[in-house]
Amino acid sequence: MNPRKDLLDIESLDREEIEFILKTAQPFKDLFKKSVKKVPPLTGRTVLTLFYEPSTRTRSSFEVAAKRLSADVTNLEVANSSVVKGESILDTVDTLQAMRTDYIIVRHKMSGVPNLIARHTGASVINAGDGYHAHPTQALLDMFTLREIYPGDATEGKRVLIVGDILHSRVARSTSRILTKLGVHVGVLGPGTLVPEGRPPEMRKFRTFDDALAWKPDVIYLLRVQHERQGTPAFPGEQEYHKHYGLTTERLKHVRGEGIWVMHPGPVNRGVELTDAVMTYERCLINDQVENGIATRMAVLYWLKPTVENLR
Ligand code: CP
Repeated sequence: MNPRKDLLDIESLDREEIEFILKTAQPFKDLFKKSVKKVPPLTGRTVLTLFYEPSTRTRSSFEVAAKRLSADVTNLEVANSSVVKGESILDTVDTLQAMRTDYIIVRHKMSGVPNLIARHTGASVINAGDGYHAHPTQALLDMFTLREIYPGDATEGKRVLIVGDILHSRVARSTSRILTKLGVHVGVLGPGTLVPEGRPPEMRKFRTFDDALAWKPDVIYLLRVQHERQGTPAFPGEQEYHKHYGLTTERLKHVRGEGIWVMHPGPVNRGVELTDAVMTYERCLINDQVENGIATRMAVLYWLKPTVENLR
C-alpha cells in the first residue's frame, strides 16, 4: 500500500486502504476502556483544525483523536481569526505552514476547498466536510459502526436505506460510496426535490416509506434536513416531512418489531427526521457513531503521511 498524504474523499480510496483504516481503528477503540487512553505515535506532531462551518462532533472528535495519539492540537477559531479581515484561504494556509503544522483538518461550505489546500501544502489535509461533496471520515466511522453489528464480510449483501435530504448531503454521498464499495446494498427515500437523479443505477429509489420498508432494510440511515443549504423550501413544512419521511412513533413500532438498526450522522432535528423515542431505541446507533468517530479518526491520522519535511 502506497503512503498517502491526504484524505479528501471516499472515491479515491481502494478497498485495501479502507480495510486498513477500519482494522487500525479497532485497537484504538479498545484503548478507550483503559484508564490511560493515550498512545505515542504522533508525539511532536502538530494538528490544526480549520472549520469555516460549525461542527460539534467532527471537530471535537478530531481534537480528542489527535490528543490520544499525543499530538499537539490547535483549533483555529475562524470567526475570531484574520479570515474576517479578508485573509484568503491560501494565505491562511501559508501562515499555518510557516508554523510547521503537520495536519490540517478543514471544513468549508464550498466543495473542493480541501483539495485546493492539499495541493498547496505539504501538511496532510483531511476533508472534514466540504459543501455537498464529501465527508470521508463520517463514511469511515459509519462503516466501522456497521461492521461492529455485522463483523467482517457479514456486511456484504446487507441493506441500508438512506432517508431524507440526499441532494444537499455530503454524508449521503460519502457513506453510500463506502457502503457500495464494500458490497452493501443502498436504497434511498426522500422528497422528490431532495433526491438527485444522478445517483448510481444500483442505488434503489423508493417513493414511500412503506415501499422502502417492504424492501426489508437492515439499517435505516436518517439524514438531517439541512435548512441552511435549501434556498427555497424543498417540502411544505416540518410536520409534513415528519409524516412522510420521518421515523415516527408508528414506524418505530414496525422498526423495533423487525429489529432494524437506526443511524444518523447528527445533529438530529427531533420531530422532523425522528420522534424522541428513537434516541432511546435499543438498536439506535447514534452514540456508537460518535464514539467510533474518535477511533476511526485516530486511524486516519495514524495512516496519513505528511510531506512537510520533504519541502524543506
Ligand atoms: N456528523 C457531523 O458532521 O456532525 P458535526 O456537524 O457536528 O461535525
